[in-house]
Amino acid sequence: MPSRDPMEPATARNLSGAGLTEAALRSFAHGDSERFNQIAQSLVRHLHAFISEVQLTEEEWAKGVEFLTRTGHITTDQRQEFILLSDVLGASMLVIGINNQRPAGATESTVFGPFFVANSPRFALGDNIANGAPGEPCYMEGYVRSLSGEAVPNARVEVWQADDEGHYDVQVAGLPAPRGRGHLFTDNDGRYAFWSVRPSAYPIPEDGPVGDLLAAANRSPMRPAHVHFMITAPGYQTLVTHVFAEGDPYLDSDAVFGVKSSLITPFARHEAGAAPDGSQVNTPYYTMRYDFTLAPTQ
Ligand code: BEZ
Ligand code: FE
Repeated sequence: MPSRDPMEPATARNLSGAGLTEAALRSFAHGDSERFNQIAQSLVRHLHAFISEVQLTEEEWAKGVEFLTRTGHITTDQRQEFILLSDVLGASMLVIGINNQRPAGATESTVFGPFFVANSPRFALGDNIANGAPGEPCYMEGYVRSLSGEAVPNARVEVWQADDEGHYDVQVAGLPAPRGRGHLFTDNDGRYAFWSVRPSAYPIPEDGPVGDLLAAANRSPMRPAHVHFMITAPGYQTLVTHVFAEGDPYLDSDAVFGVKSSLITPFARHEAGAAPDGSQVNTPYYTMRYDFTLAPTQ
């Protein structure tokens, strides 16, 4: 443990302005690790600079405290308002960008979001994961490959998505079983395929303090239509990403800044008839094809 600086004064009095910032910085110089000191001191430095830059009033300070208090009070095991706050501030995507720098050619990652549920139902290739979720049928398929183009067999492909009313199953009260959610494993060719419904654009939860923040900023809560994927395979970095629907009107105004051009693909409409898996579909349906490329673990 770093020892206390014997030259440091035991008391710090009559502090203001730059001297106050210096004292606050010094108070975080003796933590249990250098990394802790670095993070705490940087936080103090930026927080003090922010307060000084905007000349924060006491009313504004109290409003900020009240906002964070409400953010804490609304947060439960089911709802993480702090992560949502991080998302709309662009902080989540910044952290993802710093920590997921992959080699060229690897599929890009994007925000995880609050609607993942562990232990989703397992499906076989070609199954329908919709389980009654409202929406037009959509056949989704593709391959999971390595950077050199080799098939990644037996990769776990975790899928979750909103239905055509913009709801995840966990947002619908009283559902007896998961909908539009599940996992499957790629075959020997690295192929995955499943039926579900076409996803729709939806608003992020806006009935709490984060919604109030967006309203105050005249910002839209909408996310463009997408399907979440999390792909895991031994020897490869876990990929958390989405596939976005080409042509969606919100692609350039995603409330959480998660869109990357490389993740956009067409959801093509077809008239009723024979689907790519040989089945007969008696309503119009959609197809989505997307191939994922995994980066090796370092
Ligand atoms: C989502 O895509 O599920 C999501 C991501 C960030 C915030 C809210 C929702
Ligand atoms: Fe989502």
